[in-house]
Amino acid sequence: MKILCRAAAECYRRNMKAGFFQFNSTFGNKQKNFDNVRKAVRFASLDLLVLPEFFATGYQFTSKEEVAQLAEPVPAGETTEFLTALSQEKGMYIVAGLPERSGDTFYNSAVLTGPDGFIGCYRKTHLFYEENLFFTPGDSGFQVWDTPIGKIGIMICFDWFFPESARTLALKGAEVIAHPSNLVLPYCPQSMPVRCLENRVYAVTANRIGTEQRKQSEPLTFIGQSQITSPKAEILVRAGSDEEILMTADIDLSLSRDKKLNQYNDLFKDRRAEFYQS
Ligand code: ACM
Repeated sequence: MKILCRAAAECYRRNMKAGFFQFNSTFGNKQKNFDNVRKAVRFASLDLLVLPEFFATGYQFTSKEEVAQLAEPVPAGETTEFLTALSQEKGMYIVAGLPERSGDTFYNSAVLTGPDGFIGCYRKTHLFYEENLFFTPGDSGFQVWDTPIGKIGIMICFDWFFPESARTLALKGAEVIAHPSNLVLPYCPQSMPVRCLENRVYAVTANRIGTEQRKQSEPLTFIGQSQITSPKAEILVRAGSDEEILMTADIDLSLSRDKKLNQYNDLFKDRRAEFYQS
């Protein structure tokens, strides 16, 4: 018998359990970083796991040759294969960052995998600092994937600094923004609640910890403080600035589907795009 939904919204799941794993990646040692992730989620039961930007390679590249050695095609590379296998084993969706090779071009990318395999790839739009030396600004645009656990959009780290990133994802229907990060500036943790409030979305920011100082480069200390933020600007969980930890929160997707503030105001319908500058 065919079961029809009375309202389209009823067809969708209402709740999701989301989480992040915050840890200190070891530069250049993918196997060690994979093992660390696998161990962290061994007993976890999650719908969506978000891992940091460049979680398996480390962050501070010092030459294009190093990028070429560690970057991988998507979805054919070992990192996407690891994530796909883990998604299948654990029955969960994963968003995680990696350096992507496409021909002679390198992108700072993040993939979405699920129990049925590879789903999609986002290429970071706004490159930060020395990423500009080695990577090409992303050409994928902001994308939202409609999955059985909810509508998932991706932005990567510094993309948060541009309100257009989260806004575009929300306008495209994202209910949860997965945000793999390697944050070094202090501003993101207190800013994401506003991004979530103004767009009525959840965000899972998965940052890393530790310091990298490779060759003669300046040291980069990653600020941790990964967090899950709600459409009501609440910080549902936040990690410390130097702890390795898996944290989770229950997400009520009906909150991100409802853009109404009160009976007169709807955050999206009230927009006056004709007065905004692009
Ligand atoms: C950053 O975009 N990794 C700060």
